[in-house]
Amino acid sequence: MKTHRFKNYEALSDFAAAEIAIAIKEKPSLVLCMASGHTPARTAELLVTKLQQNNIDYSRLQFFGLDEWVGLPPTNEGSCQYFFNTRLVKPLSLQASQCFFFDALSNNLPNECKKMDDAIAARGGIDIMLVGIGMNGHIGFNEPGTPTTITSHVAALDDITKEVGQKYFASPMPLDKGITIGLGHLLGAKKVFLLANGSKKASVIKQTVEGVITEKFPASIMQRHANGHVLIDEEAGALLTHRK
Ligand code: PGA
Repeated sequence: MKTHRFKNYEALSDFAAAEIAIAIKEKPSLVLCMASGHTPARTAELLVTKLQQNNIDYSRLQFFGLDEWVGLPPTNEGSCQYFFNTRLVKPLSLQASQCFFFDALSNNLPNECKKMDDAIAARGGIDIMLVGIGMNGHIGFNEPGTPTTITSHVAALDDITKEVGQKYFASPMPLDKGITIGLGHLLGAKKVFLLANGSKKASVIKQTVEGVITEKFPASIMQRHANGHVLIDEEAGALLTHRK
C-alpha cells in the first residue's frame, strides 16, 4: 500500500481521474468498479472530461457500481445508481451492456449477488477499484466485522452508516440493509484507490494507514494490498505520524 498526499480535493480527484483515463486508454476493456458518495463525485466528473477531451475509446469499458441501498430504486436521488447514471452513464452514453449495478428492488438479492460475482469473474476480475471510506471504516457496505474473503453480499447496516447515510437524502430515509461487492473482490483487484478528503476523515485515515489490520475496521485491509493506493488531501492526512 502507498499513501499519496495532495494539497486539496481537486488535486486528489484530478490524479484519480487521470489514472483511470490512462488505464482505459491502455486497456479499452478495463474492468472498473467505483463507489458513489461525496468523495468520488469530482473524480467522476473529471473522468468524463478527460475521456472526452482526449478522445479515449471507452466503448468497451466494463463498469461496476460498488453497492446500493436495499429497497431504493435508481430514480431515488440518494441511490448509488442515480449517482452513476447522472455522472457517468448519461454523460458518456454508456450502454446497458457495459454497466453492472445491483437491482436493490429485486426480491432475490442473493441472485443479484451471484450475477455480480459471475460478471466480475467472467471478465477476469476487477482491474481498478476506486472506493471511499465510511466513518466506521467501511468500504462499500462491507461493515465492521465483515470477513475479508467475502464476495458480493447483503449487509445489515451499522448504526453509523444509517446515520451518516442520511446526508445523501433530502428528507429522513429509513436505511436498513445494503448490497455490496465484497472485500474479497477488493483484495483481488489489480489496483485499488481509496480516496478521502476533509478533516472529518482524518481519524479513519489514521486507522486505515497506521492502525492494526483488523476485520473490525475494514479499510485497514488496504495495508495488505500490494497495489493499494490511499489518496488523501492535507486535512484527511493531518493525524498521520509519517507525514511525508
Ligand atoms: P462519502 O462516503 O464519500 O460520501 O464520504 C464514504 C462512504 O461512506 O463509503
